Amino acid sequence: MADAASILAVSPVIPVVTIEDPSHAVPLARALVDGGIRIIELTLRTGTALDSLRMIADEVPDILVGAGTILTPAQAETAVSAGASFLVSPGVTPGLLRHMLTLDVPLLPGVATVGEVMAVLEHGLKVMKFFPAGPAGGPPYLSAIGAPIPQVQFCPTGGISLASAPDYLKLPNVACVGGSWLTPRSLVEAGDWTAISELAREASALQSQA
Ligand code: 3PG
Repeated sequence: MADAASILAVSPVIPVVTIEDPSHAVPLARALVDGGIRIIELTLRTGTALDSLRMIADEVPDILVGAGTILTPAQAETAVSAGASFLVSPGVTPGLLRHMLTLDVPLLPGVATVGEVMAVLEHGLKVMKFFPAGPAGGPPYLSAIGAPIPQVQFCPTGGISLASAPDYLKLPNVACVGGSWLTPRSLVEAGDWTAISELAREASALQSQA
């Protein structure tokens, strides 16, 4: 099993993707791979998300698919059963974290405060999602957390764009960023996979300094 640090090392950007129509799942994942992105966080925000996850896991071996928006232990279980290679939560509760730790996949638990970082660290996890990155304070806030807690690596997500990503990626405690800008709803609904490959190509050219 991969560890969470190696999940963050796959790509400078993890696309955060919401798919309504499962028939879009496989072509969308292939479009990301064509653009050089080999990882995807598929959010559990639609009734069909698990079908999309299963199809990507089964049919696109070149991409690592994780499940995002994990809010409950039950969602964590079903996502892993559907083939999720990693789990991402927007925040953590003690119960959710304890349960996710029993599953055999890397975790990116969401944190937004120093106390939350410390609480997750108590469980031995040194890789976390920082969410919502922009509203919570952006690069200066993450940089400040790195002074007392340099051992934690973050994947900031929320309000990040191609233009703002480099400000995060130059921080020593940021291994990659997450964002939905690679797969805008309008392009997904139009099935414009060429445009999505192009957005992926731009994103995959970004560099992390961590
Ligand atoms: C997430 O779920 O991590 C965010 O909704 C993605 O944030 P963005 O849409 O601002 O990129």
